[in-house]
Formats: sequence, structure tokens, C-alpha cells
Amino acid sequence: MSFTVAIDGPAAAGKGTISRAVAARFGFAHLDTGLIYRATGARVLAGEDAEAAARTLRPEDLARDDLRTPEVAQAASKVAANPKVRAALVAFQKEFARRPGGAVLDGRDIGTVICPDAEVKLYVTASDLVRAERRFLELQEKGLDVTRESVHDELRARDARDSAREAAPLKPAADALMLDTSDMSIADAVAAAIARVEARR
Ligand code: DC
Repeated sequence: MSFTVAIDGPAAAGKGTISRAVAARFGFAHLDTGLIYRATGARVLAGEDAEAAARTLRPEDLARDDLRTPEVAQAASKVAANPKVRAALVAFQKEFARRPGGAVLDGRDIGTVICPDAEVKLYVTASDLVRAERRFLELQEKGLDVTRESVHDELRARDARDSAREAAPLKPAADALMLDTSDMSIADAVAAAIARVEARR
């Protein structure tokens, strides 16, 4: 039987952490859909056409270890505004969502476009400053040469592009549970997500 948990929200809101914890707790498979757009963006940075890159994405593209840079994040956000790129990636995500045994997908349009019938929908958010600080610490820890200001600017530019685009813009589904993690511990945010899944199972 399938059971889909759709987790959306802006960059660095805590979607990844919550998704991984929910997947581990219930034994569901997890798909970070941002990685698909990052892998496509990385191939565009290397000179490929965006739509062709999206159509021919391979598992090894998602396993690259250079997808978490601010440059690739911006390239991902740009290719993600292209409806043809999005269309090329829909079937894979829908199939993943309905795999037997349950699935958690996190991204921007999971509850609105990819899985409008998901059993659980969460919209995870946090203030700009909190998200920028979290992402800054993450990138700094990886040894990347970033400043708080550059990370803040990068997140704001991406959120604006992801929210304003015509194709599947970032927005909460009408029936999503809103989780603002600005002043919440990771443990509390994960507990709230798990409680929602328990309630719907
Ligand atoms: O989640 P992330 O920061 O890794 O995502 C990178 C970019 O990919 C994001 O800025 C917008 C795009 N994206 C999208 O348009 N739809 C999704 N479901 C996931 C990501």
C-alpha cells in the first residue's frame, strides 16, 4: 500500500531534516526533489541544454558531491522555472510517491502539483534570518567560502524566483499543516511531523 508525505517550503527551512526523520521513523523511502533540479542545473552550468539535461537525468547525476553549492542552487532555481524542465521530471516523482511501503518527498510543489492527494502535507518555513544563518553554518562547515550576507542574498533571490514563477510556484497547499521552525527545536519539529503522520495512518 502506498502512503505519501509531501513536505514543501522555502530553502533551508528544515524540510530535509524533517523528511529524513519521518522516513526513518516509518520506514518510508525519501526523495529530496531539490536534488533533481540541482543535478539538472549542474549539467546546464557545464553547458548542456536544460530540457535535454532534465530528460536524460541519470541516478549518478543525483549522487554527485558538488550539488550543494550556492552556484548550483541558483542554477537549479533558474532551470526549475522552465515548464518543460518540470514536465520532464514529473513522472519520476509521481511514481516514487506511490511506491509500495510509503514515501516522503520534499520540495516546493509536492503538495500542490506532484502529489495533490498525499495523505499528509506539511509546509515547513522559518524566518529569512534564521534560514540564512542555518545555511551559512552548513556551508561554512563544508569549507565553502561564503559570508552571512552572501548566503542571505542567495536565499532571498531563490525564494523570490521560486515563489514568483508561473510553473508550480512555491506555496502551501490549502490543506497543508504549517510548521514554522524559526523558534522550534529540531526535535519538536520532527515530533510535530511524526504526530501528523500517525494521525493519518
Ligand atoms: O530544495 P533545494 O534548495 O535543494 O532546491 C533547489 C532549487 O530547486 C530550488 O531553489 C527550486 C527548485 N525546486 C523546485 O522548483 N521544485 C522542487 N520540488 C524542488 C526544488
